[in-house]
Amino acid sequence: MTKRALITGVTGQDGMYLARLLLSKGYTVFGLVRGQNNPKIQALHDWAPEVRVITGDLQDQSSLLRALGQAQPDEVYNLGAISFVAYSWENAHLTSQVTGMGVLNLLEAIRLHAGTDIGKVRFYQASSSEMFGRVQEVPQRETTLLWPRSPYGVAKAFGHHMTINYRESYGMHASSGILFNHESPLRGPEFVTRKISSAVARIALGLQDQLVLGNLDAQRDWGFAGDYVDAMWRMVQQDTADDYVVSTNETHSVREYLEIAFEHVGITDWQRHVTQDARFLRPAEVDLLMGDATKARTTLGWEPTVGFADLVRMMVTADLSEHGLVGAR
Ligand code: NAP
Ligand code: GDD
Repeated sequence: MTKRALITGVTGQDGMYLARLLLSKGYTVFGLVRGQNNPKIQALHDWAPEVRVITGDLQDQSSLLRALGQAQPDEVYNLGAISFVAYSWENAHLTSQVTGMGVLNLLEAIRLHAGTDIGKVRFYQASSSEMFGRVQEVPQRETTLLWPRSPYGVAKAFGHHMTINYRESYGMHASSGILFNHESPLRGPEFVTRKISSAVARIALGLQDQLVLGNLDAQRDWGFAGDYVDAMWRMVQQDTADDYVVSTNETHSVREYLEIAFEHVGITDWQRHVTQDARFLRPAEVDLLMGDATKARTTLGWEPTVGFADLVRMMVTADLSEHGLVGAR
């Protein structure tokens, strides 16, 4: 029988990749989309026209119950969140409501929907390496103490522990993927990788001269989003639900990302195009993230397929293409 999946956050980067992955496996895919006349529905439709849109919001539990009734899913992937860390200081309460309480709203809706057959719906929670914050060990693994450094990280830690609690309290098949940063040409322009790839393409075209950034020394374990949604799916297919770190096990600085991005368009003296401004610094920074995905590799058979330099080049090439530049240099 065809499996049915419900994805929250389907209009985001990961939602788009996951929708395509599940469709390619023969799933019937339902996507929860918030708001009235959300303009991202058109982009979703262009990307994956077979996705069936259901309106709802993680803050509105009755809309979640209705979505579950309509989709009758075998699997629920909770990717919906306010996901921009910098924004979370200015909107701490809203971030807590959506990124934190939203997880509880959905878990509880699934419990009510499933009734006595709690095993009929499998659940995936999009947890985050941002929960490690002021890291207590390097590399970070599933057992590393969480020390979140942003309202977003705190909200994710709540959702992470609530997911574990529903697994332990009710026997729900609820897994949590502690995913390290993952990027793609679909990444939102507010995140540093896309901000750089887009600006580098525009600078190469002569459309812009300066790129203003914050902390260039921050280090992240950056992977490709297409690989990471495959890890989500693999977790949900396991007989037993569990938590997994998903990462490349390498760390690179924002500065290294800049070097490779500019080099890709033939600019070596990139420093003359980049300035730093305190408005892009955060009240508390996560200085270094580097994961240890041994458990995902051994248990799920998961491997990342795109390395750091190729990821940077992929994103710059996509932005060059968007600006009509490919082939011009
Ligand atoms: P994203 O592009 O920012 O997408 C977030 C999605 O959440 C969007 O579809 C957004 O809808 C939706 N959303 C926001 N508020 C909502 C609400 N109140 N109710 C329902 N949906 C809502 O994020 P992403 O990069 O795809 O990440 C997917 C998930 O993984 C997020 O939970 C994120 O926190 C987590 N995560 C991401 C990374 C990463 O590096 N990408 C790493 C670890 C964890 P609109 O399109 O309408 O705004
Ligand atoms: N966004 C942004 N803009 N970040 C900058 C800038 C800038 O101009 N300049 C330097 N940075 C630094 C940030 O201070 C941070 O240390 C790093 O670049 C990465 O920032 P983001 O790309 O915004 O991502 P993030 O690491 O804060 O959060 C992402 O990854 C998390 C997983 O670790 C998001 O996708 C989160 O949703 C996700 O959970």
